[in-house]
Amino acid sequence: MDKEEITGEIDLAQINAIVSEYSQHKWALIPLLQKIQDEFRYIPPQSIPLIARSLRLFPSQVQGVISFYTQLYTQPRGRRVVRVCRGTACHVRGGKTILKLVKRHLGIGEGETSPDLEYTLETVACIGVCALAPNMVVAGHVHGHMNPQKVEQLFKNREVGG
Ligand code: FES
Repeated sequence: MDKEEITGEIDLAQINAIVSEYSQHKWALIPLLQKIQDEFRYIPPQSIPLIARSLRLFPSQVQGVISFYTQLYTQPRGRRVVRVCRGTACHVRGGKTILKLVKRHLGIGEGETSPDLEYTLETVACIGVCALAPNMVVAGHVHGHMNPQKVEQLFKNREVGG
């Protein structure tokens, strides 16, 4: 799937196989969208007509549901999602600097995905571990008490700005 991700080519047969598991059940729309997103890390636009046909919905209805749920994505996402906390506790302990350094290391801004699809950068209001501020999450792992050295260590294999 790596080549497909980089070239943007989507295997429609793979999508059809997933869609066929859920066909004819309108209630299955959300689970189906989640399954496709689990597989591709986003919902390829090409899948929307296939989903709609299978569940006897209009493509606009499928698109409407995707738009409603902020956790459903229609743009490719990175293999590793980096979430930097911008909550108050993290902010007062240097979270802004951490975010700036992460942006520089990854070469992307908030809400962006690196061209090699390795990283997606997001900010969050609070991770829920304020005592460890400033915090960030990388691929589901919380990193507390962040500082510039830790940022460097986490992304040391990443070309700065690249
Ligand atoms: S404010 Fe950052 S973890 Fe709560």
